[in-house]
Amino acid sequence: MVKLSIIVPTYNEAENLAELVRGIFSALEGSDFELIVVDDNSPDGTGKLADELASQHKNMAVVHRPGKLGLGTAILDGLNVARGEIIGVMDADLQHPPEVLRLMLERAEEGADIVVASRYVEGGSVEGWSLLRRIISRGALWLSHLFLPQTKNVKDTLSGCFLFKRDVIRGASIDVKDFKLLLEILVKGRYEKVVEVPYTFRSRAAGKSKLGSRQIFSYVKQLLRLSEYRILKFMAVGASGLVVNNGILWLLVSSFGLFPLLAEIFSIESSIISNFVLNNFWTFKGRTSERFSYRLLKYHGSVILGALVNYAVFALLLSIGLHILVANTIGILLGFIFNYFLSETFVWKWL
Ligand code: GDD
Ligand code: MN
Repeated sequence: MVKLSIIVPTYNEAENLAELVRGIFSALEGSDFELIVVDDNSPDGTGKLADELASQHKNMAVVHRPGKLGLGTAILDGLNVARGEIIGVMDADLQHPPEVLRLMLERAEEGADIVVASRYVEGGSVEGWSLLRRIISRGALWLSHLFLPQTKNVKDTLSGCFLFKRDVIRGASIDVKDFKLLLEILVKGRYEKVVEVPYTFRSRAAGKSKLGSRQIFSYVKQLLRLSEYRILKFMAVGASGLVVNNGILWLLVSSFGLFPLLAEIFSIESSIISNFVLNNFWTFKGRTSERFSYRLLKYHGSVILGALVNYAVFALLLSIGLHILVANTIGILLGFIFNYFLSETFVWKWL
């Protein structure tokens, strides 16, 4: 057993590795740690270089994999050989400055279960990012907080540099292919205290980023999975409301002879209530401890606001000349998104 295992996945990092290893050993000098490099048979010879470096340090090991199998599984394979009581993950390209490890380890020793190197707390930043890249990063963060409200107190949920106590993931099923491990741990792990330590995400010293549009897709998949497909359930409930609404309307008018304009009021309210009940006991099962009646009231508010958004978007798009059905469809869609947003953050707010 050692105190800390640092796992570093590498793919074509030959130009960065020596400096990285030097940086890690100097930052953690005097601490009880091991460094594990997981290389995917990099064509640029990173694996061989890693072996050479490992022969100079007795607390450094290299895991060789036959080919590029992905960052997520590389970390998991590193985890399988790691002996540390605390596990750390860091990239090899020096975008995560090794110096930050010292402070991170201190925080963990002071009692934090998870320590995140963060770009988005006071003192943290990113270097040399275009406006577009900043917007995408912020958008992705925002989505993680919306879909996984249990992570909302962590500013940089997408950080690739973090430490966690091994106990945090004991018994948790973390077994998927391409993913953001930190998010997985924040959702499935058992922990009390998360601390963020600021750092500057530097621009790459050498080589290039391996993350692209495929990662965006796998990120969205991960969000859906970790959120237990809440947004899809919410959609299904919405569709069921359509059936309830029409059914009640038909019943009241054809069997009870009610005046349609009056029957419509009952049918709308019935579908709001049935949607609420289904969302409460299925979509957001076990979510909150606020009073049932209060939630029901808040849900009415969010339905009304969603309808207003729908209406305003429809009016706006119509006025700029869009086809009436296109305008309405986009209006419905945005109204739905708004309604979902309010349900997550307001009606069934994570307490
Ligand atoms: N073994 C292995 N196999 N390593 C890989 C692979 C792979 O298939 N793909 C990438 N790596 C290694 C890279 O060599 C680097 O050390 C690290 O994983 C991160 O890859 P980058 O390509 O540099 O990713 P990035 O800079 O765009 O994004 C990183 O930082 C973000 C912010 O902290 C990642 O860590 C993201 O997960 C993180 O959100
Ligand atoms: Mn990088």
